[in-house]
Amino acid sequence: MKIIAFGASTSSTSINKTLAAYTANLVPDADVEVLDLQDFTSPLFSEDMEKEIGTSEAAQRWLAKMGRADAIVVSFAEHNGTYTAAYKNLFDWATRIERNVFQNKPVVYLATSPGPGGAQNVLNTAVNSAPYFAADLKASLSIPSFYDVFDVDSNQFKEAELAQKLVQVASSLTQS
Ligand SMILES: Cc1cc2nc3c(=O)[nH]c(=O)nc-3n(C[C@H](O)[C@H](O)[C@H](O)COP(=O)(O)O)c2cc1C
Repeated sequence: MKIIAFGASTSSTSINKTLAAYTANLVPDADVEVLDLQDFTSPLFSEDMEKEIGTSEAAQRWLAKMGRADAIVVSFAEHNGTYTAAYKNLFDWATRIERNVFQNKPVVYLATSPGPGGAQNVLNTAVNSAPYFAADLKASLSIPSFYDVFDVDSNQFKEAELAQKLVQVASSLTQS
C-alpha cells in the first residue's frame, strides 16, 4: 500500500509532519512517502494571480502525488483556529485544478498542537468539509499537548494507550 503523509504546515520542525509520518508508518507493509509542504509553495492565490500564471505547478504536483497513492495521512496544524496560510493557499490552488482534492482515497485526518486544544478546531473544519473534497475519511484524531505525550528523540508515544489509539487509526486505512 502506497501512502502519502504530510503535515499541513511548512514549519521545518512541524510536529504535524512528525505525527503524520509516525502514523503512516504504523500501517503494515506500507510504502510511505512523507511530503514536505515546503516543496509545494505557490504564489499567494487570488483570481488575479490565477489569470496571470494560469495554475500552480506545485498544486499540480501535489495532486499527482495523491493521485498515485492508495491512502493519505494528513495532520493539520492550527493557526488561529484554522488552517495554516501555507496549506490553505496550496489547497485553494489545488481546488481550481480538481475540486476532488483527495480523489476518493482512504484518508486519515489528524491534528496536534503543543497546547491543550490539540488543534481540534482545524480538525473539525477539515472533517466537516471532507465530503466536498472527495476524502474517504476513515478516522480522525486530535492529540493535545504533543510534547508532553510524544518523545521526539525516540519518535515514540510515552503512553501505551495513545500509541495503541494511533495503531487503530492507522489500521482504519486498510479496512473497507
Ligand atoms: C500564528 C500562530 C497561530 C497559532 N494558533 C494556534 C491555535 O489557534 N491553536 C493551537 O492549538 N495552536 C496554535 N498555534 C501553535 C501551533 O499549534 C504550533 O506552532 C504548532 O507547532 C504548529 O504545528 P506545526 O509544528 O505542525 O507547524 C499557533 C501558532 C502560530 C505561529
